[in-house]
Amino acid sequence: MTTTKIPLEVDELPKRWYNILPDLPLPLPPPKDPEDGASRLQNLPNIFSMEILKQEAATDRYIPIPEEVRELYIQSGRPRPLYRAKRLEKILGTPAKLYYKSEFYSPTGSHKVNTAIPQAYYAKKQGIERMVTETGAGQWGTALAYACSLIGLDLTVYWVRAASTWKKSRRHFMQLLGATVFDSPSNNTSIGKQLLLDDPQHVGSLGIAIAEAVQDAQADQKAIYSLGSVLNHVLLHQTIIGLECQKQFKKIDQYPDVVISCLGGGSNFGGIAIPFLRDRIIDKRNIKFIATQSAAAPNLTGEYRYDYGDYAEQTPLLKMCTLGHKTSFTPIKADGLRYHGAAPIISALRHQGFIDTIIYPQDESYVFNKAKLFVRSEGFLPAPESAYSIAAAIDEAMKCKKTGEKKTILFNVSGHGFMDMDGYEEKLLRSLKASS
Ligand SMILES: Cc1ncc(COP(=O)(O)O)c(C=O)c1O
Repeated sequence: MTTTKIPLEVDELPKRWYNILPDLPLPLPPPKDPEDGASRLQNLPNIFSMEILKQEAATDRYIPIPEEVRELYIQSGRPRPLYRAKRLEKILGTPAKLYYKSEFYSPTGSHKVNTAIPQAYYAKKQGIERMVTETGAGQWGTALAYACSLIGLDLTVYWVRAASTWKKSRRHFMQLLGATVFDSPSNNTSIGKQLLLDDPQHVGSLGIAIAEAVQDAQADQKAIYSLGSVLNHVLLHQTIIGLECQKQFKKIDQYPDVVISCLGGGSNFGGIAIPFLRDRIIDKRNIKFIATQSAAAPNLTGEYRYDYGDYAEQTPLLKMCTLGHKTSFTPIKADGLRYHGAAPIISALRHQGFIDTIIYPQDESYVFNKAKLFVRSEGFLPAPESAYSIAAAIDEAMKCKKTGEKKTILFNVSGHGFMDMDGYEEKLLRSLKASS
């Protein structure tokens, strides 16, 4: 029998995160200030904790994970198993080997806990009392609420209204963990108030919610802002995913030919891919990387240029693949994939030809149907965002069926969909009813 579950023992949990900055083929273009107006760069210490700012520009290849953070990683269920999708392979009739990482075992439902814990830990160490953040799908807000609750910090969350209106249970979960949650745009900030004056039904966007959270945090000396994707330190913390996968593949004497994950701001894709990107850049291993996106916000196909991270232009300019910080995007069920820009590290590597992208149609029925196949064969209910990774893994496996290639495909199931059933119902309603 070939085992389908490849676990790691608690004492095999990595002790260091991997920082790809010193190994990038070209230096990463640094954040910069716009030509006019106040310096955003000088304002950063008012927004972020000191340790996070240090990590953002760190040049060390490996950064030790503090023991207290490792303990909380273990508390949150790490290390997480790698699975061989044998049942799915059989249904597809593919010669490819499919492996997936189980970030859906997270206590709040996604990989976002991996950076929420260290961010809350460093804030507490610095004497901060409250964290402020935005959330799109609601997964990041819940993850930070979890970390703040365990570590002992207050939390305020600005939640993009397009998602908050249909995810009632997620709001209750965040509140249960002690967070204060505002729909964004909100009447709690001048930015939100102005947008609501122009359009009282405004559905919001991540760019707007970031702007509100930054404004709120700046006005309170005991508060800091925290971001759940895009920035270098977030991707650094998320490398725990790929580092665990590398140990797991070593145990079974395998290695992936293809690494796949969905991409909103880039944290779960970066988390699983970056340790393998190192192997491609440094060891010249032949690995293909695919980031999957929605046609609603295919930011990796955008221009590679300097742009703001938020709608209100309060952040420094970051060099990234962007669709423009003022753009409004149609809401989708995978709302975590609806952001105008991709992480600078991922954008640079995309620009240099290391990363391919697949864009799935905005109506999402294609990816939800692939998620249905996954839940019926493997038995795990994925988050809508993770359905994009699953769809691409299945598509790659079907290409192998045509060519006869026995590729090893690794994909990340970044979260579970227990609180997204309304999305499943809306997207699969007809076929679910028909088959029941
Ligand atoms: C389950 C899940 N996967 C993926 C994403 C996309 O974000 P990122 O690109 O930062 O991984 C989100 C964002 O909310 C999410 O909730």
